[in-house]
Amino acid sequence: MLLLAPMAGYTDSPFRQIVKEIAPETICVTELISADGIKFGGEKTLEFLEFNKKKERPFIVQLFGKNPDFFSEAAKIVASQGADGIDINMGCPARKVVNSMHGSALLTTPKLAEEIARTTVKATRLPVSVKMRIGFKTYNEKQFLDFIKMLEQTGIQALTIHGRTTAQGFSGKADWEPIYLAKKHLKIPVIGNGDITSAEIALKRLKKLDGIMVGRATFGNPWIMAEIASALTGKKYTPPTSLEEKIPLILKHAKIDIKMRGRRGLLEMRKHLAAYIKGFKDASKYRSKLVQVESYDDIKKIFAEIRD
Ligand SMILES: Cc1cc2nc3c(=O)[nH]c(=O)nc-3n(C[C@H](O)[C@H](O)[C@H](O)COP(=O)(O)O)c2cc1C
Repeated sequence: MLLLAPMAGYTDSPFRQIVKEIAPETICVTELISADGIKFGGEKTLEFLEFNKKKERPFIVQLFGKNPDFFSEAAKIVASQGADGIDINMGCPARKVVNSMHGSALLTTPKLAEEIARTTVKATRLPVSVKMRIGFKTYNEKQFLDFIKMLEQTGIQALTIHGRTTAQGFSGKADWEPIYLAKKHLKIPVIGNGDITSAEIALKRLKKLDGIMVGRATFGNPWIMAEIASALTGKKYTPPTSLEEKIPLILKHAKIDIKMRGRRGLLEMRKHLAAYIKGFKDASKYRSKLVQVESYDDIKKIFAEIRD
């Protein structure tokens, strides 16, 4: 099983569509969406639920929050909008999220985490999964095992584990030993996450697990999902290496984003454009232009200039 990690500001519908086009086997998850926001019908929140029904299946929605009843109601709304699964965020380390006792703060309140998972499972016929970190301040094997076994008992159908503590944020290296340990203790599928940057690493990790989830390595390089997917199936795949080869897909990404969300799509696209050209000749010169584009034509013109 190969998954694209939920990433706020990145794994929106246009990016997910691009990943699915290159590697259709990928299961994509939305960025974190507020259960409270869905319950109260916040316009901006509901926009996060938009997806391309033809291209993005299975469509998994990640919810965050702390009120079990809101999870229950949000799960029903998400199901009615055609989602295929729900993932509960117990891993976000952002201060704003943790301070409100959302995201990875739930690792410190196992009773509430249990209630949220149980209530969500009960509220919907969709499969429910949880994404968590290996600990909050530090990794403690007993607490970790108690927590994951408790989650399994709630009826969730898969567990994704990012091999870092909340305190680590994104620093240091992901520790995969707790993830492998979890696999030994659980019957539900265990998906590992953290620092997968190549098909080789992905294959190695997957030998001991049911699935792997890839995040930051896809920034500017969605092709890595096809590299991994083909390595898993033994198929041969040569990813594009020159910017020339990459441009058609980059332009397609921009087109989808702008068509779907207008100017906001264009603004969201800027960071992707900067990521796509990272590492290429004169990248810094073009980067400053790409993060200021005002239209699809601007993007096309800059890439034509790069190509010359
Ligand atoms: C910009 C950014 C946004 C993220 N947003 C989310 C999110 O919305 N929900 C979530 O569960 N994890 C989120 N994460 C964590 C990733 O899903 C993933 O666990 C983490 O990046 C480690 O995987 P990687 O090393 O493959 O990137 C985010 C990470 C980044 C870098």
